[in-house]
Amino acid sequence: MVLFIPEEKIIEIKNTADIIDIISESVLLKKSGRNHLGLCPFHSEKTPSFTVSYEKQVFYCFGCGAGGNIFVYLMRKEGFTFPEAVKYVAEKYGIDITVEKTSPGKINKISEKDNILLINKQAMDFFKGCLFSGGSGNRALSYLTKRKITEKIIRDYQLGFAPDSWNVLINFFTKQNVSTSLIEKAGLIIRKNKSEGFYDRFRNRIIFPIFDMNSKVIGFGGRVMDDSLPKYLNSPETIVFNKSQSLYGLNIAKNDCRISETVFIVEGYFDLLSLHKNGIKNSVATLGTSISSEHVKILRSIIGKDGKFILVYDSDEAGIKAAQRSIEIFDKGFADARILVLPAGYDPDSYLIEFGLEAFKNAVSCAQSTVSFLMDSAIINYGLSVEGKIRIISELVKILSSIGDKVARALYVRELSEKIYIDEAALHERIMEALSDIKQGKFINKSDPDPVSNKNNVKGYELGNTMQEEQQKRSRLERQIIAMMLQFPEMVPEIIKRDLLNGFTDDVLKSIGYAIIEHINLSETNSENIMPLFDGDDVKNSIVAFLSIKDEAWDRKSCLRLITQFEFIYKRNKDTSTNKIKEAEETKDDKLLLELLREKQIQAANKKTSRLKALGGKTLW
Ligand code: UTP
Ligand code: MN
Repeated sequence: MVLFIPEEKIIEIKNTADIIDIISESVLLKKSGRNHLGLCPFHSEKTPSFTVSYEKQVFYCFGCGAGGNIFVYLMRKEGFTFPEAVKYVAEKYGIDITVEKTSPGKINKISEKDNILLINKQAMDFFKGCLFSGGSGNRALSYLTKRKITEKIIRDYQLGFAPDSWNVLINFFTKQNVSTSLIEKAGLIIRKNKSEGFYDRFRNRIIFPIFDMNSKVIGFGGRVMDDSLPKYLNSPETIVFNKSQSLYGLNIAKNDCRISETVFIVEGYFDLLSLHKNGIKNSVATLGTSISSEHVKILRSIIGKDGKFILVYDSDEAGIKAAQRSIEIFDKGFADARILVLPAGYDPDSYLIEFGLEAFKNAVSCAQSTVSFLMDSAIINYGLSVEGKIRIISELVKILSSIGDKVARALYVRELSEKIYIDEAALHERIMEALSDIKQGKFINKSDPDPVSNKNNVKGYELGNTMQEEQQKRSRLERQIIAMMLQFPEMVPEIIKRDLLNGFTDDVLKSIGYAIIEHINLSETNSENIMPLFDGDDVKNSIVAFLSIKDEAWDRKSCLRLITQFEFIYKRNKDTSTNKIKEAEETKDDKLLLELLREKQIQAANKKTSRLKALGGKTLW
């Protein structure tokens, strides 16, 4: 049945329930100081590091970093969805949750969204059932086997099968009194043209459920099992499904992306499954669209500011196109974006099947930056005759001058000058001319240089491979400020007033901060309610749990000191190298500019070396 539990109800349930009670059902807890301790149910350990706080109503494991509130616990421990966890707690404490039947007139936008998500989830379960219920499902299973998809992959990705019928799905839903208008809004059925009624969108296809970051089903892709067309059919855009913001596999990939600070981007469902099957779990697939700046923004918030994007393409043509667009999309060249074009006729899936993982890894190690790739493509295209060089330069100058990061630009200028045997200074001059043309508006620059994430990011952060390491590396002050917001909420208005979060370099902490602000308005009651719940986002929940469980003695004076300290450092950072470079560029002081760039390059190189050391040589996998 399609349910919607109102926000106030959830808060009531949370306030009534006791996390110690609920966790004690499955973990033996012992009181230790202000908290309770036990053996963590999420990783195996001999000495207890699993901590539960009665006061804060959160759990946090200092061993594996799992953490969150009562609902997060149940979702992780019992595999419940969020509504299921809420329902479980409500029943235990005898709280009545009124079940609202979906009637189109009654539901508002928010509940409509939730209802569509629920319908999608039910449809996914239905398709899954069809895959395993014999009959034509067997044909689908043997197709998947033929494509080397393992049972584990089928389970992990919850693949399914839509039977060859015009109405099995619509019948399944109408039997449960779900309105056709909602099923249509979920994109699962299509209105008949000539007569009354609807028919199923997905028929006789392998079904790939598409999830959002929080593992909510937002849409579906369906593939035929023969040569008929269209090969793939996807859900239309709905209020929960936006292709330029969604990536197939991200819900599963996000942790590995975070740890490796790297993401592989491929184009197909099967490519993605193949990579995951081969253990390259930090990969995602676009959904029949090219990669968008929204995708980049989302991925960047996961892999971090210095993270690496590796685009894998199956043809030169697609690769060149993507590389050309990439400057605009990848934060004007700030991001480390590489491109790997597989030999003609192979996509990642067929390449892995034919040549294996080692060969793929070798190919990856040769992946070029998108700009170098474009240089080489132009050289191959035009050759190194005088005329060829002129064409190469005119093509590349456009690209190089649109790179926002001056250090990167300087490095590429050198690379090109070496590749085509042209004097570096002369080339640099051409770029400067092009830049001043842009400034004077001689070119219309299509891409708006916003990337919020870059604006104030003088200092980036690096994520290590354990929770603790990650915490250590995060900017200490930003963490303290979030801890302060959680533990001493009366400072939140001050933080809003000074727009402190705007200066955060850490996107994850920043979004947690904004969520707290949003949440605090919702329920001005007790401090426990200011803890936002990131449904399905384990990392954020765990950070929030960690920062609220950590005991600190707060008073107004120490809070204000912390805020001032943050503002001071923020301001100082703003005055450093990046700004000096900008100034030098504006005043056309080329000598100073080069000096500053060189200095920054050395710093960047040092930073990279120390990071590699910190990771213990751990690289992409
Ligand atoms: P491809 O045609 O390269 O197919 O489409 P593929 O992924 O290699 O699939 P297999 O291996 O033949 O089964 C790449 C991606 O483009 C989208 C899908 O997301 C697909 O995975 N696509 C392709 C569509 O949306 N519709 C289509 O008709 C074809
Ligand atoms: Mn393929």
